[in-house]
Amino acid sequence: MSRWWQGAVGYEIYPRSFADSNDDGVGDLEGIRQRLPYLDWLGVDAVWIGPFYDSPGLDHGYDVADYRAVNPIHGDLVDFENLIADAHGRGIRVIVDIVPNHSSSQHFWFREAQQGRSNPYRDYYIWRDPAADGGPPNNWVSHFGGPAWTLDEASGQYWCHLFLPEQPDLNWANPAVLDEFDAILRFWCDRGVDGFRVDVAHALMKDPQLRDNPQQLPVADPTNPKEVFDSFEHLYDLDQDSTVEIFKRWNKVVAPYDAVLIGESHPRSIDRVARYVRDEALHTVFYLDPGRMGWAPGEILDKLEAVHRSTDKGISWIIDNHDESRSVTRFGGGEAGRRRSLAVMTFMMALGGFPFLWEGQELGLVDGLIADAHLEDPIATRNEHGIGRDRTRTVMPWDTSHANGFAPSAEPWLPAPPRHPEETVEVQRQDEESWLNRHRRLLAVRKAHPDLWSAPPEWLPSPAAAVRMLGRGSTLALTNLDAVAHRVELPAGSWHIFYQSGPAAATRPVTSPFEMEPETSYLLVTAI
Ligand code: BGC
Repeated sequence: MSRWWQGAVGYEIYPRSFADSNDDGVGDLEGIRQRLPYLDWLGVDAVWIGPFYDSPGLDHGYDVADYRAVNPIHGDLVDFENLIADAHGRGIRVIVDIVPNHSSSQHFWFREAQQGRSNPYRDYYIWRDPAADGGPPNNWVSHFGGPAWTLDEASGQYWCHLFLPEQPDLNWANPAVLDEFDAILRFWCDRGVDGFRVDVAHALMKDPQLRDNPQQLPVADPTNPKEVFDSFEHLYDLDQDSTVEIFKRWNKVVAPYDAVLIGESHPRSIDRVARYVRDEALHTVFYLDPGRMGWAPGEILDKLEAVHRSTDKGISWIIDNHDESRSVTRFGGGEAGRRRSLAVMTFMMALGGFPFLWEGQELGLVDGLIADAHLEDPIATRNEHGIGRDRTRTVMPWDTSHANGFAPSAEPWLPAPPRHPEETVEVQRQDEESWLNRHRRLLAVRKAHPDLWSAPPEWLPSPAAAVRMLGRGSTLALTNLDAVAHRVELPAGSWHIFYQSGPAAATRPVTSPFEMEPETSYLLVTAI
């Protein structure tokens, strides 16, 4: 296997919001294809395209009705083949989402399963008789609000769903489900995909006895699904040891295709993250905490260091994705948020693994503004106090024309006021000191200095909680996320800065002790 992802940087695309080629207000595969020159210019090595499969769209594609078909709102298989061919022509790899924890309730398997207890597809899903009081079989709750069980009136049994009732959880203890997904993986590999982002990878297996999760925190607001979900210790519905066995099997399925498996992982504790990338299971996993946290510099760095030390294999580092408020907003908004976001991302580029940018992160975007009446995410629309994920998903601002160039004349599916000219690709491309060009330079320097991601890492002593120094071969990554400057002693040698997350990124020699500006990261190399 080539392990092509080592040294690569990925870019997440939300198909609905990236580019709309047929002017129906929803992004599509052909729109992505037309924007490949931009991604090539930016310097990304791979794109991860969110689900574009046939789907009723209740969770915007994460409710799959047919794992082998393209949703007509996004195009068709020919569009997909054209996209792959063009991406490969530019040396860009294509990673697709695979959603194995649950299907849509509209999937043929579930429609059959609902026919009754003796249907051959019944056991593709997780069914249980009611508890003694007639209620759900246990106390598990859904991420999206309410119990994780819905009663099927016809059979008198409940089905399990960690997300919407219309997203029934598949039964991974059934070997037939394993066989189905082996074939689905091969189907997309045969079409040239270079890897899979595995949705909620930590959730596939459930406790065979379906025991109650212990409740660890009181709940102040039962109408806030996140608070309710987080009040439990998820001992029995998530992160079961047996889940890793599934990925060992998948690893063998994708190996002949040189395809990467990247898990979306949210284990119970940091020391469990590495389990998924051991023993040739998943190749890397997303570590999600920094993509959810507010501006807590010391804590962010503690987590990064702890996760980094726990695995010598790959982590896919992110501070942004399609599920959370944008880092610039979480980190304080405006220029301060942008400065902090790039400082963290710069340091992440030196952690190894397979880092990803989220569409628009390179522009320093804040969350989009959406009127409550236009919210689409079920977390917001189905709960009184659910904080939905729409604000990170507003359309990509390409230029200053209609809908920021997302669609020729249609209204975007998620209506929001247009972005300011200085937030657009068109305007930022012309300014060498724009956030876009700073991100672009960051990707370029990572390529130019392979020691940054490949040489053995050495964490050096640091003078403050919000400061870290990581040596790797000929390179050194320094971060000062504190609000004040800090002086650090550099290791022996003569050092040159080759990238700095703030302005004035010109290469320059530095001497020890070196004073780091507040909220800034630096990449250094020993002079030759
Ligand atoms: C995806 C979400 C999705 C959920 C259910 C996730 O973790 O990233 O967007 O709603 O899985 O599929």
